[in-house]
Amino acid sequence: MRKLFLSVLLLLPALALPLFAQDMPDLIPQPRKVTMQTGDFRLPSQPRIAFPSSLEPQAKWLADKVRKSTGFAARLLPGKTKGDIVLLLDTLQATKAESYVLDIREKGIVITAHDAAGAFYGMQTLLQLFPAPILGNTLTDHTDWKAPCLHIEDSPSHPYRGFMLDVARYFFPKEFVLKTMDCMAAYKLNKLHLHLIDDSGWRLEIPAYPRLTEVGAWAGEGSKRLGGYYTCEDVKEMVEYAAVRGIEVIPEIEFPAHILSAVAAYPHLCCTGKQHQVPTQHFISRDLLCVGRDSALIFLKDVLDATMNMFPSRYIHIGGDEAVYERWEQCPHCQALMKREGLEKVPELQGWLTNKVNNYLVSRGRTAIGWEEALLRGKIDRPLVSMVWHQIGDTAVAHKAGAQALVAPCYYTYLDFPESGKEGEVKAATWCPPIPLSKCYSLPLPDSDPSSCTIGIQACMWSDQFIHGEVLQEIRAIDENRSERYMEYLTFPRLLAVSELGWTTQKLRSFTDFRHRLSAHFARLDAMGCNFRVPEPILTHVPSADGENKDGWTFTLESPVRGARVAYTTNGTDPHAQSRTAQPGEKVRVASPELLKAITVFSDTKYSMPTNGADALPK
Ligand code: ACM
Ligand code: ZN
Repeated sequence: MRKLFLSVLLLLPALALPLFAQDMPDLIPQPRKVTMQTGDFRLPSQPRIAFPSSLEPQAKWLADKVRKSTGFAARLLPGKTKGDIVLLLDTLQATKAESYVLDIREKGIVITAHDAAGAFYGMQTLLQLFPAPILGNTLTDHTDWKAPCLHIEDSPSHPYRGFMLDVARYFFPKEFVLKTMDCMAAYKLNKLHLHLIDDSGWRLEIPAYPRLTEVGAWAGEGSKRLGGYYTCEDVKEMVEYAAVRGIEVIPEIEFPAHILSAVAAYPHLCCTGKQHQVPTQHFISRDLLCVGRDSALIFLKDVLDATMNMFPSRYIHIGGDEAVYERWEQCPHCQALMKREGLEKVPELQGWLTNKVNNYLVSRGRTAIGWEEALLRGKIDRPLVSMVWHQIGDTAVAHKAGAQALVAPCYYTYLDFPESGKEGEVKAATWCPPIPLSKCYSLPLPDSDPSSCTIGIQACMWSDQFIHGEVLQEIRAIDENRSERYMEYLTFPRLLAVSELGWTTQKLRSFTDFRHRLSAHFARLDAMGCNFRVPEPILTHVPSADGENKDGWTFTLESPVRGARVAYTTNGTDPHAQSRTAQPGEKVRVASPELLKAITVFSDTKYSMPTNGADALPK
């Protein structure tokens, strides 16, 4: 008996671990505290949603989401506190901004939130606990809509969790921007930074300057003419759509560089006054806004006024990156201004302009964000938020200047770099090394605390790789040249890593655990109609007893995507969706490691790049 007792005791940890791991939900970002309970909540066919009237937009959003995928029409109960799903606002229980407490019992669900954003995040967590098709926009025949009983207390580590979309180099239609917000919101990202202006395009209607969008928003001629812009009405719609989802849309009005599209519309804005065309290829112009001309300064103020009228955001991004100053050196107006202001070095002209704009924004109750250079050109009177895009350690510079910092380091969170440098990988930016998912997740972002100047993180999707219809990528599974699908392929799943970096405290972050949870999210992204890069299978070498592999090399093959299968060949040819499928626990033996090639097959048209046995061996 004692022996039996002992062996059961010895077995317990082995038994307990997988059971525990299975029971924990696959949530991204990982919440602060999850307590599992027994039983499930089953969604009734007419769920009653009770809520305080201030949460009506969020309650309607939930009802709409559920109706589209399940066909269940919810009954909305404003001002009530009893229902199948109850939303409450209580700043004593949910003390931090954007925080929530989610309590799921068999009899019903209560989301207690600090604010509307917290209530929305509680609902997003709830949706992740139901089967993935609930996130879809079309009716599915899945019938068992259940979520496990549990208790979650959750709040974000960082107040700023952003994503930048470069709509200037490639114009993403409004509908796509709205869809992108849905994908961001599903992962609790709360700032959409729109890079609206660059040399290759001006994307914002400014009624007082119609040529900005008549001329500056378009490149090329005839049937090759491409471009587009957002009207004031489009912006209104985007801003309202964002607000329900807890997202602040932050416009970037870029200056003094990257503004050739404005110069093409109004040549007097640059130092030479020369007429330019909007380029059809990726191009970084040396023409700057002529800081020495009053008309250029009036233009900038008018544009900022119009922008602030359209965007109610706390933050306005004022660009400031990558200026080279040769035009200002040669310009009589700019030189005269330097003399008048007693500036010694030409870059100080940028600081002078930054101060003017920053002070103006503050007077209008806004906060300026600038790329990190904006803080470093001359003496800045009043610190603005520095968006650090080079080295993460550069936040120290902002700290020293008394400024807040946002980390968006190109080596970790510029998602226009590919995930790998392997043959067959998507063509993408090359000026930094590839950023595998693990590298992105490894960004050493400290937790937000009052003594830290870092207020958050941002991923950036620059679109100079897919400007204006060029044939750009060679992804087998995407047979399109220029596409929003290409943007999503680069963005997902790495944006989920950025979501967890921004939301989850450092102590709770583990890449192994993240990858395990991530495997359940590809089906969710798919349900949302969001494209993604399918990760390669995990091949594991099983060493032979003699350790010499004389009789061949043995591997196990595992899918990193839940529900997907692994297809493989053993003769060194590239597998395809119809190649032999690896069976659970199957061991595959080959004469040499590179003969084994395998892909993860999500569907017949969506699969990963191949990986081979040699790649799986320790280097
Ligand atoms: C940047 O990547 N030039 C901000
Ligand atoms: Zn000038």
